[in-house]
Amino acid sequence: MQAIGVANGGGDCPGLNTVIRAVVRAAILDHGWRVVGIQDGFDGLIWPERTSPLTVESIAGILPRGGTILGTRSRGDPFHHTVNEGSPKVNNDDAETCRGSMKKLGLDALVVIGGDGTLTIARDLGRMGIPIVGVPKTIDNDLSATEVTFGFDTALHVATDAIDRLHTTAQSHGRVMVIEVMGRDAGWIALHSGIAGGADVILIPEIPFTIEAICEKLRERAARGSNFSIVVVAEGVKLPLLDSFRKPFPKVRPGQVGMQVGDAIHAALDQDVRVTVLGHIQRGGSPSPFDRFLATRFGAEAVELVARGEFGRMVCLRAGEIESVLLDEAVGEIRLVDPQGGAVRAARSVGITFGDHRRIPGGTLREPKDRMAEAVMKEVGMADGRKRSTKDHENPAPGFVEKDFADVLEEERENDRMLAAVGSNLARIGKRLGDLGRALEKPETISDTFELGEFEDVIVQISALLSRYNELRATKLKIQSQLANLSWHRS
Ligand code: F6P
Repeated sequence: MQAIGVANGGGDCPGLNTVIRAVVRAAILDHGWRVVGIQDGFDGLIWPERTSPLTVESIAGILPRGGTILGTRSRGDPFHHTVNEGSPKVNNDDAETCRGSMKKLGLDALVVIGGDGTLTIARDLGRMGIPIVGVPKTIDNDLSATEVTFGFDTALHVATDAIDRLHTTAQSHGRVMVIEVMGRDAGWIALHSGIAGGADVILIPEIPFTIEAICEKLRERAARGSNFSIVVVAEGVKLPLLDSFRKPFPKVRPGQVGMQVGDAIHAALDQDVRVTVLGHIQRGGSPSPFDRFLATRFGAEAVELVARGEFGRMVCLRAGEIESVLLDEAVGEIRLVDPQGGAVRAARSVGITFGDHRRIPGGTLREPKDRMAEAVMKEVGMADGRKRSTKDHENPAPGFVEKDFADVLEEERENDRMLAAVGSNLARIGKRLGDLGRALEKPETISDTFELGEFEDVIVQISALLSRYNELRATKLKIQSQLANLSWHRS
């Protein structure tokens, strides 16, 4: 082994430079190899003039620097390289060109730093016989083969700091603050920063939600005297099909969902709502100490894998130790938040709602994903635990039946009618109870025949009506959950 190349692909991420530094230093100081920096992702292997030697001196000072000194490309893929030759675009297979470039540059192996897309390309180059080792990177923390990726911790610091700042202004103005954070199809950033920042509502792609359940939580807070609230929204959430006024939500991209949620809350509660989209701020700037530590260990271990000739593998973190896994096993399946997992349970137990449940006064926490919801899903042929992918946005799930959707809407209307009737009875009897109570305020006016019996009657009636009212509210929630689930599969 004489020389290695180091490349990164996909979006930038705090800690990339730290890995590059670790690879360069370990390769040169520990093994005496030459290191070449490949610029702009795999493009640097297609055009080898986009490479430069990296030395201990040339990389001095990059450890805490955000971004990547190598530059990167979000969608650079040598297997499907898009060439603009006027119109139409042409896809070239440049994987062989990469092998040729490595020969020209005298490289014996490659260290590739990236997320699922980049590591899939690395795996495929490895299958062609190119000696390659992967390092996992993404702020989304959604790679299944490693407990954590570098970049995630820094993104969490940024998001949590933003939530803290929004808290103080929310409190001052009595506003609802909605903050949209990144994470693509996974809710890790929203979940962790939401818990760390003391959010009241966290919306993640893994848990379908309704606007009504969010508003219920905000009303409950207002009733307890907290007139401000923090709602953290993961950019990848699927909006329910309908808002609280049964108006359809438009289809939106990441960066726009927070605004939709904010508008829907404002329309339902008529409360002052402000929306912040945190965006690429989460990816910029200096990596946190944890990310620097992890990135340095990943970089050093990648060089060790190369030294041992263990190619086609990716470094990873397991039970706090740096290990490695086959690239084949590391890609293709993203790690999502477990809706029944410990972090979600802890969040619920401290009063955070995920927009899928509400607390019934005097009752217990009702979960909407119950047998009734499942039965409806089954009827429409969707209770099959389909694996989700970003492409599922495109088409309704097979088996989605519009008619069943209409039936559930009808069921909701009927339930609302009964809810209104029981509610108005409750109000009437409650008023009578008030009158009786007020009579007690003036004992001098109470006659010997004061109807204690009526008191008892009224209380019995209130108790029965209240329990019916709560039942109907629980049913409403179930129905909304079914609608959310149906729209989840339809959208
Ligand atoms: O994967 C990292 C990430 O920041 C996601 O959280 C986000 O959806 C995406 O990249 C944004 O990509 P781009 O920089 O291409 O807009």
